[in-house]
Amino acid sequence: MQILSVASEVFPLIKTGGLADVAGALPLALAQHGVSVRTLLPAYPGVAEQLRKRKVLATLDHLFGGKATVVAGQAAGLDLLLLDAPHLYDRKGGAYGDASGNDWDDNWKRFAALGKAAAEIAAGAVKDYLPDLVHAHDWQAAMAPAYIRFTGKRPVPTVMTVHNLAFQGQFPMSIFAGLGLPGAALSLDGVEYYGGVGFLKAGLQLADAITTVSPTYALEIRTPEFGMGLDGLVRVRDNVLHGIVNGIDTDIWNPEIDAHLAANYSARTLGGRAKNRRAIEERFGLTRSEEPIFCVVSRLTWQKGMDVLVSVVDDLVAMGARLAILGSGDHSLEGALLSAAARHPGRIGVVIGYNEPLSHLMQAGSDAILVPSRFEPCGLTQLYALRYGCIPVVARTGGLADTVIDANEAALSNGVATGVQFSPVDADSLRIAVRRTVSLHRDSKTWTAMQRQGMKSDVSWTRSAARYADLYRSLVPAG
Ligand code: ADP
Ligand code: GLC
Repeated sequence: MQILSVASEVFPLIKTGGLADVAGALPLALAQHGVSVRTLLPAYPGVAEQLRKRKVLATLDHLFGGKATVVAGQAAGLDLLLLDAPHLYDRKGGAYGDASGNDWDDNWKRFAALGKAAAEIAAGAVKDYLPDLVHAHDWQAAMAPAYIRFTGKRPVPTVMTVHNLAFQGQFPMSIFAGLGLPGAALSLDGVEYYGGVGFLKAGLQLADAITTVSPTYALEIRTPEFGMGLDGLVRVRDNVLHGIVNGIDTDIWNPEIDAHLAANYSARTLGGRAKNRRAIEERFGLTRSEEPIFCVVSRLTWQKGMDVLVSVVDDLVAMGARLAILGSGDHSLEGALLSAAARHPGRIGVVIGYNEPLSHLMQAGSDAILVPSRFEPCGLTQLYALRYGCIPVVARTGGLADTVIDANEAALSNGVATGVQFSPVDADSLRIAVRRTVSLHRDSKTWTAMQRQGMKSDVSWTRSAARYADLYRSLVPAG
């Protein structure tokens, strides 16, 4: 079976968050299930250069105001198709906005083009290639099902995966004329959304199946609290919605061979973590001590509960916690965390920025990771933490609730606990969770048992890739 996966970021070529990790790892895992995946990605600056065996396979003459080519190539075991459209993607800045973080004004064109190109490829634009199914990830790819449905020359089944319902790709009605869709598409059954055009809405409406990245999030997005205005549509399409929890690439995230660590280790040689812990103390200017290091590796945003963390940092330090924080995002949260670090030298260290190697070291050298998200479709950092013997302290929501087993009495006495959960996401429960974690850390036997239990949990893609493969098979006509 041949799948065309469509995504706006793919690790290791370009990454701003977990979507890239998933789009980069799932194809490798699917190969073991007889599914071969080609991934369509915009050719942002610097991306094409990373591909081996580059070859132009198709030309799209008029793609939203310019000429585009489809360039095939390989990188990191992935079979890629780059949409090379310089007028849309070749510019300084990030994948979605300029260097100061403002979204590009023409994002509607940039990502409608991605969906349109997917539909053209599905219809045979690339010689000798006819995918059996198109799999679109998030709003940036969500127009693919719309183009296939309304302008497609070849009907092909589609899957829409929601990685985060908060990002919807909503645009004013005025863009509709530029999309090149027939008038019929501008309906409640098409791309129309609250008097404008909604890309994710279109994908949710028109795809043959919808998936999201954890079973709990699949339940949550049916409710007004988490549905972000789309819960009504999600409920209508309930019969085709599947919650499939993300895995991680256990070769890239493997403490036994990870080259970013100060020392490698396994569940049997947990003592090896000490060197990594020392490295974290040095990197973050923390005074050496036996007290636990809590790390944060995150976008610094409201979704991630970072404002709640800011409101309690002084209390956490008073409880005996040390904090190592790596992230970037809202400038006010960056400033608040930097000033907390200035108030508590030796106890709180903050690195603002995006640093993939350091994110690995933090999982290996911190005792625990804090993930106080208000909502979390899946979350990957708690999965990396489980694999690295770093205890996840997480909000009980979405994929966090599905992947961490809380250290309550029953779980501890049965030896199944892998972390700490708390709810709701507010200052009081975060304080209580950290206090519980600090006291668990003092009991080194229990702590080590939890680390080992976490390291034993299956966070690989094995089971979930099988579920995607089954879903694809259920949608592709036999023959
Ligand atoms: P989201 O995609 O919502 O940001 P996830 O937990 O799914 O959340 O994925 C975040 C990914 O980005 C993880 O791989 C995490 O390690 C990485 N990450 C987040 N912030 C940083 C950072 N400042 N530096 C390096 N990696 C980061
Ligand atoms: C999104 C979500 C995150 C999820 C990731 C990969 O960015 O916010 O929870 O892990 O996508 O699916």
